Amino acid sequence: MNPPSTIAIDGPAASGKTTLALALARHLGYLYFDTGVMYRAVTLAALKRGIDINDDDAVSSTARTISVDVLPPTVDDGRPCTVLLDGEDVTWAIREPEIDAQVSIPSMYRGVREALTIIQRQIAARGEVVMVGRDIGTVVLPDADLKIYLDASVEERARRRWEENHLHGTDGSLEAVLDAMKNRDKLDSERDIAPLRPADDAVVIDNTNLSIPEVIEQVIQLIEGR
Ligand code: DC
Repeated sequence: MNPPSTIAIDGPAASGKTTLALALARHLGYLYFDTGVMYRAVTLAALKRGIDINDDDAVSSTARTISVDVLPPTVDDGRPCTVLLDGEDVTWAIREPEIDAQVSIPSMYRGVREALTIIQRQIAARGEVVMVGRDIGTVVLPDADLKIYLDASVEERARRRWEENHLHGTDGSLEAVLDAMKNRDKLDSERDIAPLRPADDAVVIDNTNLSIPEVIEQVIQLIEGR
């Protein structure tokens, strides 16, 4: 049986989507594409331009005018991909706590989502892609060949994000990360447009108590057993 050509991986922040998607993309020789970086790049662009993040029209128009490129890693510093915003390397800048705290706001705007969804569908139309996000299985690619929804407890996800932040020299307490994550979960899953939720035909995997290799193995078996 042929492997699925389009694979959608959705789930809340720090649920392990990136690690799983990168492993699958490598295993299958597919493109890895994290749509979250696009929402982050729009947020960074708006902040850099001094645009009020609560101004839907101004932020949506920013989303339509910026250029975001996602490339395979150009620097060997642990990055899963390189992100360019209007030609500038913003791979780590879009991971700063300030962006974490604000990114859910632009993600609520219809204009932002429409602009980014068009680009995401164009990339997926080429096939052989592992696309990661919140609404890939429900909105962006409702006909994806395989949909995975990865979940884990908010405490475990906050712990993972806090460890990750420390590796990159970002300060902050675990409590602050946990609070920010609870807030983002709420905004992502309660927004009107494309809220975070598993597609009806998604395979849901809770990996709170699973190791990374166990999750990867589970999904590869799923693909090979189809
Ligand atoms: O996966 P992430 O933490 O990099 O995503 C950043 C934010 O972008 C997240 O809070 C919600 C938003 N997002 C979204 O609304 N839809 C997507 N497909 C991907 C991300």
